[in-house]
Formats: sequence, structure tokens, C-alpha cells
Amino acid sequence: MARLSISHLKKRYGELTVVDNVDIAVADGEFLVLLGPSGCGKTTTLRMVAGFIPPSAGQITIGERDVTNLPPWKRHCGLVFQSYALFPHMSVAQNVAFGLEMHKVPAAERGPRVAEALRLVQLGGFDERYPRQLSGGQQQRVALARALAMEPQVLLLDEPLSNLDAKLRLEVRVEIRELQRKLGLTTIMVTHDQEEALTMADRLVVMDRGKVRQIGTQRELYEKPADRFVAGFIGRSAFLDGEVTAPGRFRTAGGREIACAAAGTSGSATLALRPERIAIGSEADGLPNRFATQIVHASYLGAQLDVQVALDGQERMLLQIPNRPGLSEPRPGDTITIGWAEDAGLVYPREA
Ligand SMILES: Nc1ncnc2c1ncn2[C@@H]1O[C@H](COP(=O)(O)OP(=O)(O)OP(=O)(O)O)[C@@H](O)[C@H]1O
Ligand SMILES: [Mg+2]
Repeated sequence: MARLSISHLKKRYGELTVVDNVDIAVADGEFLVLLGPSGCGKTTTLRMVAGFIPPSAGQITIGERDVTNLPPWKRHCGLVFQSYALFPHMSVAQNVAFGLEMHKVPAAERGPRVAEALRLVQLGGFDERYPRQLSGGQQQRVALARALAMEPQVLLLDEPLSNLDAKLRLEVRVEIRELQRKLGLTTIMVTHDQEEALTMADRLVVMDRGKVRQIGTQRELYEKPADRFVAGFIGRSAFLDGEVTAPGRFRTAGGREIACAAAGTSGSATLALRPERIAIGSEADGLPNRFATQIVHASYLGAQLDVQVALDGQERMLLQIPNRPGLSEPRPGDTITIGWAEDAGLVYPREA
């Protein structure tokens, strides 16, 4: 249980910078989720914190201790790998005790610590089983128990749920979170599953190509995405490319004039709109931005319909229409009027 601070952290492999000047501060007892596309540097960041990969530059502190140059076993981090990495020829109890033996914890102390860790993950009584005699979810919990037995100050979880089926994921998600809260463990979890990230995190870090794009709560990331990448990565957005022609004026590539809230951006830009901010049919009456569009594609998802529309035959936009009684089924080719308020759209400089 400690604050964890990562500053100006960098990792280079030859010419390639895979972690680029990362700054992250995790509060005592906070559950932080690191989220980003494959290859963006999540595992590398986590392993530098755990001490398995030496940073090219930067500093890592846990509590008051600068651990940047300490070996893994002196950092008091518990790391759970994506693949569990249990020893197949060792029983559950031996697997959990392994780290304690390596740390020369006296035998008399090992037994109670193993038992306590297994009790925490609800595997009391599984001591003598072997990994092959356990389900995926149980193996995952053994891996967690192994980390907890070390009484870590910081818990690091690298995609701990990715090998589990959908139903088990939901259960283990809740178990991990409850345990983390109960123990007050400062935690960083890596995932590329957005829903998992949103449901579990106190705060999220969105990474892309080695860089932190934004750190914030779910609401901050969704309602005030820092850039176009975050707007597309967290939740869904419709994007219109174009140009800011004057303060509060945006012209789409197709030549449509759109009123938007004034922003500092000028020149080439992208307008991002959350689907729920787009009004449809008569609800669009009186809105400053109101256009007739053609339905390109419609998917029935039960509680809602996802509808792709085209503005001027080219720009595609996503609508989400709540499924209400009496709703007429949208069909490709139909015309539908959409509209949005000036402040509904967020304007970002165009990204390459
Ligand atoms: N030892 C290495 N030498 C060279 N490049 C490496 C090495 N290890 C990792 N990389 C590169 O660093 C980048 C980041 O890798 P990392 O494993 O941190 O990604 P990740 O965000 O965890 O991705 P994923 O979601 O797929 O697990 C990748 O482009 C990877 O190819
Ligand atoms: Mg990874």
C-alpha cells in the first residue's frame, strides 16, 4: 500500500522508442487501468515498474523509495502475468509458496501466509491440487494468490482476465476489485478491453504508440476526450473531417457549414460527435445543425439500433436509436433527418 509514481519513463530498443516519456501518478489504494491498442507499450511499462525491464530513462518511486535501480525482489510489487505462468509440476500450495521460498521467508511463516493468500482468493482446501486439475478461473486465482502472498505494496496485473470465458471474466472482475478494495492495494491493471477498463477502474490511462494520451475518470475521458484518438477509443464517436473556417464555423469536406462551439483550433480539423448527442427526425427541429441523410446500414441490437448514415453521399456517421415501441425499422436507402446543438460537437486538429 503506497503511492506509485512514474516520471519521464522511457524505453528504447535501438531506434525504436516503445515507451515515450510516460508520467503516471497512482494514489495510495487506487485501482488504475492502463488501456490502449496492441503494441502501445502497456506491458513494457508494467514490467519496468516491476523491475524486469530496465528503463532507458526516467524514475519510478513507490512510497518514499526510489526503486528505479532496484532488482524486482526489492520492489515489493506483485505481478500477475497474462499467462498465469504456474509451475505445472507443483501443487497449488507449492506454487503460492515459491516466491516466499525465493525470498528466504522462514518455513514456519510460509504455511500461514500461503493459507491466508488462498483464503483471500477463495481457494482454501485446494492446496494439494495441481494446475491441470483446476479450471482457468481457478488457475488465475492461484496466480493472484501467489502475488498476494508476497504482501506487495503495489499490485500489477497484465491482462489477468484475457484467458477466461465471457461469464467467468465478469465474475473474476468483481472478485479482483473487491479484494483489491478490501486490502487497499495500489494497483495498475493492463487491458485492451474497454468495457473491462470502464467497469473496474478508479481512473484510466489511455496510451497510444508509447505515449500517454489522457489520464482521467470514465466521465472525463468520455465527455472531454483530450484528442481525436481518445474520442474514438473510449466509447463511440461519429467523425467529420473538414476545416475550421472561422471561430465557431466548421466546413465539412463535402462543403456543409456546421455551427460548433468556439475552440482554439483552426485549419484542418475533425468534428467528433457522440451518438447520443445526435437528434433524429422531429427531435432535430430547431437545432442549428440539421441535415437530411441517407441510411447506409442498420443493425438491430435489441435495446438499440445502430444506424450508419451518409451525409452528402460521403461522410459516414453513426447514430444509436433507442428501441422504443412503435419505432419503424430503419432501412438502407431511407432518408432520415438528424440534428445537433452547437456544443454537441468537439473539434480537434486533424491527425495524420
Ligand atoms: N525486446 C524487444 N525488442 C524490441 N521491441 C520490443 C521488445 N519488446 C517489446 N517490443 C515492442 O515494443 C512495443 C510495445 O510492446 P508491449 O508488449 O509493451 O505492448 P502492449 O501494449 O503490451 O501490447 P499488447 O496489447 O499486444 O500486449 C511493441 O511494438 C513491441 O513489438
Ligand atoms: Mg501486453
